[in-house]
Amino acid sequence: MKHTKVKDLLNSAPGLHEVKAKGWVRTFRNNQFIALNDGSTINNIQCVVDFENTAEETLKRITTGAAVSVKGHLVESQGAGQKVEIQVSEIKILGDSDPEKFPMQPKKHSLEFLRENAHLRIRTNAFGAIMRVRSTLAFAVHQYFQEKGFFYVNTPIITGSDAEGAGEMFKVTALPFDGTPRTEEGKVNYKEDFFGKETNLTVSGQLEGETYAMALGQIYTFGPTFRAENSNTSRHLAEFWMIEPEVAFNNLADNMDLAEDFIKYVIKYTVDKCGDDLKFLEQRLLDEEKSKPQADRSEMALLEKLSFVMDNNFKRVSYTEAVDILKNSKPNKNKKFQYPIDDWGVDLQSEHERFLVEKHFKCPVILFDYPANIKAFYMRLNEDGKTVRAMDILFPGIGEIVGGSQREERYDVLLEKMKALGIDEKELYWYLDTRRFGSAVHSGFGLGFERLVLFVTGMTNIRDVIPFPRTPQNAEF
Ligand code: 4AD
Ligand code: MG
Repeated sequence: MKHTKVKDLLNSAPGLHEVKAKGWVRTFRNNQFIALNDGSTINNIQCVVDFENTAEETLKRITTGAAVSVKGHLVESQGAGQKVEIQVSEIKILGDSDPEKFPMQPKKHSLEFLRENAHLRIRTNAFGAIMRVRSTLAFAVHQYFQEKGFFYVNTPIITGSDAEGAGEMFKVTALPFDGTPRTEEGKVNYKEDFFGKETNLTVSGQLEGETYAMALGQIYTFGPTFRAENSNTSRHLAEFWMIEPEVAFNNLADNMDLAEDFIKYVIKYTVDKCGDDLKFLEQRLLDEEKSKPQADRSEMALLEKLSFVMDNNFKRVSYTEAVDILKNSKPNKNKKFQYPIDDWGVDLQSEHERFLVEKHFKCPVILFDYPANIKAFYMRLNEDGKTVRAMDILFPGIGEIVGGSQREERYDVLLEKMKALGIDEKELYWYLDTRRFGSAVHSGFGLGFERLVLFVTGMTNIRDVIPFPRTPQNAEF
């Protein structure tokens, strides 16, 4: 007899038919009630053991964490909290779990402790919920773009280019550390390396993605990206997943429309599919915030916050307007910002972004038309000669969730810019070719997938929304 998923059992009508379930024991009460979970849903199925007719030896082995298989009738539950339960007629212990040693006890563990046990934390309610939401969001991403006629492109993970020009790259080499071949000038001779050139892990698939958009029209990537930035914050990972759509003939306004529509769609899809998980995460957040002073608590509960984002327009504000607002803001005047805003042209820090979103506008904000010199080389220069058609989307509690732009489609202007920034035009000849042959206006953006998962789950540390986080000094598992 094949076993049925707990999720399906919980949705079945009670009857006299026999069922089988397999899963892991969450708790075992009164030598009688097993709360069994198999990961298919946050909800456990109650399995009632006939302890008088079950061997003492077996009962002892029904412990938190043990894998078991139960057979019995699915009946209407007498107890509160569930509609159906399994009246167990046969139980097999598939894998024991020593209750003295299993780290995931049926009690509240700190997130720090759970991070150290990332291979087992998935056995908790919270991480089960987070990772099911993550999976659903990932599927929604594909569904959105596929429905809209975008093509999924796999851009390389090992590359010779630094798309963002920020230099925060992990090198990829097969050269030995000692006895590295040197050139006559004493530099590392990459000609002798595996690829015959210097290579790194990609920081973004955008540049390669652009070449595909300039043939397939509308494309998206969804893959891992790597940044060796030494920022040990709750928003940065060294390895994260990025979604990068790129669309030929879209200008910056089209790009903003696409980003806003996309984000609303994937949130709606996930709210529709993951109700139980999100309700659990909402309650978790409420409990968590009880210990905080009123002023530090969220203004909205999780599901209300998600509805708010789905139902309201994102506020579109130019960088120049934003700087004016910040300059005249209370925290700036009272010198509360770590980085005071004095002049037009400064890069915005996360404290500024969060002020705009959380205190001033109180809704998602799209900032656009940034100063050219704080943005990447490929962005379309505006007619004013000093701003570029960039856009960042800022979210409450998160800060920047999307970074994108209309791309510089004019060959001469792009080449000039690259020269000015010392970007090797020979290295990027293929990128320049898109501007030499059939160039056209095009735009795209990158959305940090983990930041989206943070927002939707209401979690506050990015290490808790990816299975095995990679951060400075940490590559465990
Ligand atoms: O703003 P970024 O650096 O933009 C790009 O890489 C462009 N090439 C995207 C494009 O136009 N196709 O990164 C895009 C997004 C950020 O808004 C943020 O959400 C996320 O990627 N991100 C990170 N997420 C987690 N950890 C990090 N270290 C991140 N760095 C960026
Ligand atoms: Mg950015």
